[in-house]
Amino acid sequence: MNDTILILGACGQIGTELTQKLRALYGRDNVIASDIREGNQEMMSSGPFEIIDATSKERIFEVVEKYKVTQVYLMVAMLSATAEKHPLKGWDLNMTSLLAVLELAREKHIQKVYWPSSMASFGPTSPKINTPQQTIMEPSTVYGISKVAGEHWCNYYHEKYGVDVRSIRYPGIISWKTLPGGGTTDYAVDIYFDAIKNGTYECFLSENTRLPMMYMDDAINATIQIMQADADKIKTRTSYNLAAISFTPKEIAAEIKKHIPEFEISYKPDFRQAIADSWPQIIDDSHARKDWGWQHKFDLTSMTNDIVTSLKALEKQKLEEV
Ligand code: SER
Repeated sequence: MNDTILILGACGQIGTELTQKLRALYGRDNVIASDIREGNQEMMSSGPFEIIDATSKERIFEVVEKYKVTQVYLMVAMLSATAEKHPLKGWDLNMTSLLAVLELAREKHIQKVYWPSSMASFGPTSPKINTPQQTIMEPSTVYGISKVAGEHWCNYYHEKYGVDVRSIRYPGIISWKTLPGGGTTDYAVDIYFDAIKNGTYECFLSENTRLPMMYMDDAINATIQIMQADADKIKTRTSYNLAAISFTPKEIAAEIKKHIPEFEISYKPDFRQAIADSWPQIIDDSHARKDWGWQHKFDLTSMTNDIVTSLKALEKQKLEEV
């Protein structure tokens, strides 16, 4: 593999794990991590790192030239809950960074682009169960508007200029190594941390709010798989529906109780409830499965086993260090 990869937003929830996986696959010096500020020790010591404001096309170009970058993974975004508080900032960050990268690809400075969309590009008028690849898309959040618009820009650059841009509509991504920030699905990460630490969790969504979710390992595999697929397999150039599991706060709490029987959950829905209610509950991702062979590995039970075991080991290690 002769690719040199630049990751924008490498210190975020997905970027952190994506960087380590890509460095293992492509070699440490062929994967340039970047973010608006420095990352943790593992990030900084495991390969090249550059400070990049992803809204600056000039700065991205400088780094692309410096390392002869061939592929860009654009993992920068303001998520749904934060963008509702700062609508124009969210729009600007999400759109300016995408257009900067698409322009660099149009100008042939880079050959391939990855940009994530989200289930948030659907809205209250979309079918909630088995939401199809192509259907009504009228999002009610700024984040969703930026994702739908971004999808069309990707498709436009592909159609008009032959830009090889690939995209996935992520469901809520659940991880334990790096925390998400400002999303509506963040509860499904916070719940594990609070369960282990305090044995209780106050949920900002109501007990029966069903949302599509996915374990980080599956999300990383999907991301790399779509980027490595032959170009003729990528038939959708807006963004692919992607799914693994769908569950409610009540169901994830019951799963956690199997490991921590005394665990208690309470519910105090806030403004994020309306965001969650506007999104699909179960997504039909048959196109991704058929076109480029997507398959998920983790269900709610295996994901919970993995996270609880990992977090307990981490707690133990911390205690031993004290
Ligand atoms: N996890 C994202 C959010 O909650 C959805 O893509 O904003």
